[in-house]
Amino acid sequence: EDLDLGGYPHYMAKEIQEQPESVERIIRGRLDDRFGVARLDGLNLTPRELRGFARVKILGCGSAYYVGQIGATMIEELARIPSDAEAASEFRYRNPIIEADTLYIAVSQSGETIDTAFAVEEIKRKGGRVVGLVNVVGSTIARACEGGVYLHAGPEIAVASTKALTNMAVGFALIALALGRVRDLSNADGQRIIDAVRALPGQIKAILDFEPEIAEHAKTVAAAKSLFFVGRVRGYPVAREGAQKFKEISYRHAEAYQTSELKHGPLALIDESLPTVAVVPSDELTERNLAAVQQIKARGGAVLAVTHADVDFGELEVPRIIVPKTEPELDPILLTIPLQLLAYHAALTLGYDIDKPRNLAKSVTVE
Ligand code: G6P
Repeated sequence: EDLDLGGYPHYMAKEIQEQPESVERIIRGRLDDRFGVARLDGLNLTPRELRGFARVKILGCGSAYYVGQIGATMIEELARIPSDAEAASEFRYRNPIIEADTLYIAVSQSGETIDTAFAVEEIKRKGGRVVGLVNVVGSTIARACEGGVYLHAGPEIAVASTKALTNMAVGFALIALALGRVRDLSNADGQRIIDAVRALPGQIKAILDFEPEIAEHAKTVAAAKSLFFVGRVRGYPVAREGAQKFKEISYRHAEAYQTSELKHGPLALIDESLPTVAVVPSDELTERNLAAVQQIKARGGAVLAVTHADVDFGELEVPRIIVPKTEPELDPILLTIPLQLLAYHAALTLGYDIDKPRNLAKSVTVE
């Protein structure tokens, strides 16, 4: 088994480093430059069927659910279809209304998560159309869905998912392109996204090159008993996934919040002992995010920003992890990568079992 580690100390470290190649695999043969569209034949949906959906509902558990939220935002932005993500574990227990003109997307690394598999069965029983965004070929969920997009991330062994999640996010970009191009997304805008998707592997590599700096930040962050992860709109699911990783392997209380909601309650908790990891992309909400960082700092809270090079923090003394810029709709794909390294190095500093965290299974296949 150790041979498979290929010289890495943990599977998680190996899988993080494999991301540039695994992203190459999910996009290979699927980008069509002539028409600025993604070719997703496995979806088994005609352009007319793709065009007919009035809504998109994404279902997954844990990190897959958070990436589903990233996907819902991308689909809304690029295809302008009302979209949302829900925890499959809740959906299956709440007598959901299944609509014929909703596209349901089940997202799962293993394809065996029982909550997600039951959600798929419930959708099918009530006549809904469900496709999969799944890594393991021939898995239960992949077989149950009427079509789908395989992630081609390769085997993932560490309990804390990394490369499969990144490929899920890229998979959602491809689905958003396919849905957008049968609606109002222009060929030129499709091409803008295609070019950006193609650049992702190189950009991920650039982030991984900053591992030593991120490891230093992790040491500081690991010293806190509790921390906040905040982001808004595109950045909020990034914060949720960042906090999830932290909880899973560092056993630290990490709470994700919408940056916009801080002032409606959690700001009361901020002091010297509660640091915040803030997702501050360079986009139309930068100024609002900086104002929130300022409010946290004014209350004595330390902030670590995950941000872009052109964001001007002015007088604010904030340590930063700089992420390469892509198209705004795709920013979440890259913003999540340093948070994987942050959690990994925090757990390493604290001396925990990174690949097999206590109380967790790689996939929850029993009730
Ligand atoms: C378990 C794991 C999580 C994972 C979730 C969904 O709860 O501990 O890390 O995100 O299952 O797994 P899936 O295989 O469906 O993506």
